[in-house]
Amino acid sequence: MSALPGSPEAAATTGLDDSPVEPAAIDLPLLTEQTRLEAREIIARYPVARSALLPMLHLVQSVQGYVTPEGVALCAEELGLTKAEVGAVATFYTMYKRRPTGRHLVSVCTNTLCSVLGGQRIMDALSADLGVHHDETAADGSITLEHAECLAACDYAPVVTVDYEFYDQQDVESARELVAALRRGEKPPPTRGAPLTDFRGISRQLAGFSQHPDAAAAAAAVDAPGALGPTLVGLHLAEERGESAPAMPRPSSPAAGAGTPRQAVRPSGSTGESLGKEAADARVAAAGSPAEKAGAAGSHPDAPEPAGRRLPDGREGTDTPAGTEPGTSGQGPGKA
Ligand code: FES
Repeated sequence: MSALPGSPEAAATTGLDDSPVEPAAIDLPLLTEQTRLEAREIIARYPVARSALLPMLHLVQSVQGYVTPEGVALCAEELGLTKAEVGAVATFYTMYKRRPTGRHLVSVCTNTLCSVLGGQRIMDALSADLGVHHDETAADGSITLEHAECLAACDYAPVVTVDYEFYDQQDVESARELVAALRRGEKPPPTRGAPLTDFRGISRQLAGFSQHPDAAAAAAAVDAPGALGPTLVGLHLAEERGESAPAMPRPSSPAAGAGTPRQAVRPSGSTGESLGKEAADARVAAAGSPAEKAGAAGSHPDAPEPAGRRLPDGREGTDTPAGTEPGTSGQGPGKA
């Protein structure tokens, strides 16, 4: 059953209240002036300020371990958004956590391919070892465990990620050993890609702040040698067999006008029509394909009003009576 609007459960879900799902830890680091300055640094990277919201959420998460109400408020203030708008984004994406997280985030793919190869068994085993279920954190604060949908590495199934770094072709025992090592404070090297950091560290990287001292070190970490075996199996088999992909068919003759830059369409002001209509006429005349012509004609000021856009009494809107649209109960506020 969904939470009632205004209830503590609903507020916690939407992130609009002053208290998170669980009480904030006493030692929760505060967002500082430095965090605010870094948020502004992120904003300056984008032509439109609100485009910075996603990395800013990673930034506040990197400081506090999850997106707290304080983090939502900071993003809202800096971007001129409402907390509801920020909360809507923060609760949409699973990478933004709404509860305190452990030092590491362990994600087990339980989607189809990984699942049939043992992903669900791995999830069950880790869940038992840690004493937690999906999206819960072990009592020692070491690990937050989650099941994940396809992690885009199906050729390495079953896949586990730690702080979004890949540990490929796991089985129950290797995954249990991996998690045991993490709990001892070790950082086993991922199968491929950059070295393991921790959840706050990877959140900071996702905010766009490098963990590496310079660009060369960053490139070396990202380009570290990795096991690409499963991805290349098909290629190696084809090489052994002397097979190659057929050439892509080329069009027999270039489409008329292809490669010729189209003249800019500008109204001349000499036809006696308004400039808008004249420009629309020119766009229709210049359209190169039936689809383009239909599009240009559809946006012409003289184009007929699409069916259903104007009601018989002259009002605009759909001609579906209010309250009878699919999915509505008809119990909304009546018309004045
Ligand atoms: S199904 Fe697990 S990575 Fe795709």
